[in-house]
Amino acid sequence: MKKWNRLIVAGAFCFCFLTACQGTSEGGSGAVQSENAEETSQTEEVTQSEVEAEAEEPSEIVTAEEGTEAMRIRVRANGNEIIFELNDSAAARGLYDQLPLTLENEDFSNNEKTFYPPEALDVSDAPMADGGMGTLAYYEPWGDVVMFYGSYQPNASLYELGNAVSGSEFIEAISGEIEISAVEAEPAGGEGGSEQSGEDVLIAYFSWAENAVLEGEVDAVASPSVNPPGNVQQLAGWVQEATGGDLFSIRVTDPYPSDWDECLSRANEERGDDARPELAEHLESIDQYDTVFLGYPNWWYGVPMALLTFLEENDLSGKQVYLFCSHGTGGLANSVEIITEAAPGADISDQIFDCYEEDAPSSQGAIQNWVAELGY
Ligand SMILES: Cc1cc2nc3c(=O)[nH]c(=O)nc-3n(C[C@H](O)[C@H](O)[C@H](O)COP(=O)(O)O)c2cc1C
Repeated sequence: MKKWNRLIVAGAFCFCFLTACQGTSEGGSGAVQSENAEETSQTEEVTQSEVEAEAEEPSEIVTAEEGTEAMRIRVRANGNEIIFELNDSAAARGLYDQLPLTLENEDFSNNEKTFYPPEALDVSDAPMADGGMGTLAYYEPWGDVVMFYGSYQPNASLYELGNAVSGSEFIEAISGEIEISAVEAEPAGGEGGSEQSGEDVLIAYFSWAENAVLEGEVDAVASPSVNPPGNVQQLAGWVQEATGGDLFSIRVTDPYPSDWDECLSRANEERGDDARPELAEHLESIDQYDTVFLGYPNWWYGVPMALLTFLEENDLSGKQVYLFCSHGTGGLANSVEIITEAAPGADISDQIFDCYEEDAPSSQGAIQNWVAELGY
């Protein structure tokens, strides 16, 4: 248990907040999809898409016949989105040609999400699926398409259709109705196409490591996130890399203690006082930015108070704001509500990236996928 939790339990502080916990999902692991699995309940009938035919513009899509560009499909369900790149097999093309589809997800085993395309797929030249998480496969005996969120054993009837290129970590969370559609082709030339340039993007963030008095070696066990690079600092760097935007570290004039307990104590006091810690540096102007990525750690079920100083100094009205957060077991807690209240005119997207503190150092792929899904 993290020290900040123990402190709360011990009642070291009497300042109480309601928490809203959000878990982090981990990929499950490897049950085999067996040919002999008669005990399963994959009996539900599939429902064909009710999506309007005009929802897709055929001329803008890489058609299976052209076959010159990678075929990509988008799988969306209950706020989760995964992009799969298909291989060039007849089976993959057969699936692609049936899109768009709206089908019911069916959970199977502890590592699979499945759906049943209306038409069976021709597996004559399809490669065998080889066991990796994020595989899109076709189980020929049952005619279902399988999205794996955990590793699995190869099987003589399990064919690979493709692999997730973004959002594989969201497969596990899929439930209910799934929309499957073709991803439009990139305009020829790539650069200068639909992707944003980054000129009008600001990445502003707060991280303890850049707001602490670091004297000599800090005990990494006692103070898990004070040694640079901080968790949010790393996330912000990856967002910058992906967007090409300007990076702004929110730093206070009076840094926090590097001692964990002392830092908790001061942060708690500031929260109780509704303080606005003074910032060491100020943005020259926010006007040039249309999009702001705002990064922060969960501090006391909310945000470091310096984030509010930043929001009061810089009017985000009319700007598109994307939040990213690293936290302990408390998840986002009340942070989004607090930011929304502090930046009333901002257009705060509900596509929020958050990760558990111990996962932050290995979240480059996840956060850059998120940024890509936002169109950067
Ligand atoms: C003063 C302080 C208060 C914290 N309060 C919470 C909290 O209420 N809930 C939570 O889940 N994590 C809490 N944490 C843990 C941080 O959110 C987490 O370690 C985060 O990854 C730190 O990011 P950073 O290294 O960029 O500062 C707290 C950390 C500190 C230093």
